[in-house]
Amino acid sequence: MRSMNKKYVHGYDPRENIRLQDQASTLVELLHSDTSYPAGSQVLEAGCGTGAQTITLARNSPDAHITSIDISESSVAVAKKRIEGAGFTNVSFQQGDIFNLPFEPVTFDHIFVCFVLEHLAQPLEALNSLKNLLKVGGTITVIEGDHGSTYFYPDNDAAHRAIQCQIELQKRTGGNANIGRELYPLLSAADFSSINVSPRMVYVDASKPQLVEGFTKNTFTAMIEGLRESSIEAGLIDEKTFDEGIKGLYRTTGPDGVFCYTFFKATAIKQ
Ligand SMILES: C[S@@+](CC[C@H](N)C(=O)[O-])C[C@H]1O[C@@H](n2cnc3c(N)ncnc32)[C@H](O)[C@@H]1O
Repeated sequence: MRSMNKKYVHGYDPRENIRLQDQASTLVELLHSDTSYPAGSQVLEAGCGTGAQTITLARNSPDAHITSIDISESSVAVAKKRIEGAGFTNVSFQQGDIFNLPFEPVTFDHIFVCFVLEHLAQPLEALNSLKNLLKVGGTITVIEGDHGSTYFYPDNDAAHRAIQCQIELQKRTGGNANIGRELYPLLSAADFSSINVSPRMVYVDASKPQLVEGFTKNTFTAMIEGLRESSIEAGLIDEKTFDEGIKGLYRTTGPDGVFCYTFFKATAIKQ
């Protein structure tokens, strides 16, 4: 498969599905508050996964028609069930590859892509493919994280090393866990105009218990912890250091702990 990495770094198991839901529900306000599409507009959500963002898109743009696609047939099936189960009727689902989607050029008014480019070996080609599907004057919204933006208190070397394993594993599958900082150059290279990148920082301390649970523990630390076996198997780290690192990440959720991470949200127009 040209477009998909050799192995999607997070995999498709149910625990990852729950993690994506936790991530999405914790970050709804931060990432979605300024995205809503007008009545009657055709919106493509590329790489919808199990529908963690789709549900917010559908809720915030009730009169737009959203087409959500993903390369994983089973993820699309879960997403469809979730959205239909929640009573939304403004989304249609389809299995498809961003690099080879079965839509006519200039079909969509808006495109939304969240946490997908980081997994692709050719993010620029992906943006170019998506641009072909966009009408002139249409918008693209891209949201990505950047693991280089992670810092915390108390600081912990082993935790940084465990995070570095994820960055390295993702790199080995052709992805880029530090892609957030590249959204502006990528959208420029794809010749989009009016590019606006807005950093969205998640700052977590004990005064924000929902973020301690939903973000530091269940989103970020769960993601790193999920790569324990593959990191050790790949010889990137030994068991002791990895486990110390995870302990260090949990330690940041203590009464005096602090955890910071920055997402990048870009919008741009096809000229
Ligand atoms: C981290 S998940 C993000 C899912 C969802 N956007 C979210 O924020 O929860 C990345 C998704 O991109 C999908 N994906 C990877 N390569 C793709 C491709 N070439 N075409 C379509 N989807 C792709 C994966 O199957 C996976 O569901």
